[in-house]
Amino acid sequence: MSRFAYVNGSYVPHREAAVHIEDRGYQFGDGVYEVVLLINGKMADCEGHLKRLNRSLFKLKMKSPLSEGALRQIMARLTRLNRLKTGIIYIQITRGVASRDHSFPKNSLASLVMTVKHVSLDTGRQLAGKSAITVPDQRWDRRDIKTIQLLPNCLAKQAASEKGAYEAIMVMPDGSVSEGSSSNVWILNKENQLITRQPDEDILNGITRQSIQRIAGERQMEIVERSFSVAEMMQAKEVFVTSATSMVTALTHIDGQKIDEGKVGLIASALKADYIKYVETCS
Ligand code: PDD
Repeated sequence: MSRFAYVNGSYVPHREAAVHIEDRGYQFGDGVYEVVLLINGKMADCEGHLKRLNRSLFKLKMKSPLSEGALRQIMARLTRLNRLKTGIIYIQITRGVASRDHSFPKNSLASLVMTVKHVSLDTGRQLAGKSAITVPDQRWDRRDIKTIQLLPNCLAKQAASEKGAYEAIMVMPDGSVSEGSSSNVWILNKENQLITRQPDEDILNGITRQSIQRIAGERQMEIVERSFSVAEMMQAKEVFVTSATSMVTALTHIDGQKIDEGKVGLIASALKADYIKYVETCS
């Protein structure tokens, strides 16, 4: 089946989809993006993702080329054209095409591209446990903005892949965990507190993270937003990550060491099941 992409107003065959070589996204990483999960035709937290897209644009002094409603229409049409039921929708907006100059161009038109990808999700109740490694966090100081400049994240994920691990957990110079290379990190401590880092400029405030916070709250769990050290994480009962692509994924081994007994925990499994149920209610 042919794949289609959306590029600046047109739906085009995926293999022909292209932007200009002087697009500022290509030359400077001057753009923002979102990844939205689709399960059985339901877009998970679409509103939250589009809100954060607008925030990221605002922080970079860019304007959205289209309204939220228009973006939603394109997302829906692209998923239909690609007959996508379960997978991800990728949205990218850059400052557009301009002769190369570091400062912002006066009159460039933002470039908007969207692609979709089928992914088979681990939606079963029984979670497969994954492993992670820790790496130094080498990113800039505004990680709360979802920009397409992901080289440090790619280096971190590559380091994980080379060790056969699923995720790289990034560690700040003070020894605290910031987040995963493409996910937020959570721990469940021995007092059954669910701990995840406070959403400041050091991490991306995950949309999945926010939904899981709400879901865990509905389960009467105690949620604490604070930083935690690698040592505290290694002593946890459970460690898991959340993101649009991993939903809730349990980490049973970190840096070659078992977390607790090295098995997927009950809380990660329950939160994942609840999250999948919740997505059924999304539009
Ligand atoms: N990334 N932190 C980072 C650095 C991320 O890149 C992501 C998601 C998250 C989780 O955010 P959310 O729950 O809104 O997906 C946290 C996406 C999936 C990506 O880059 O592919």
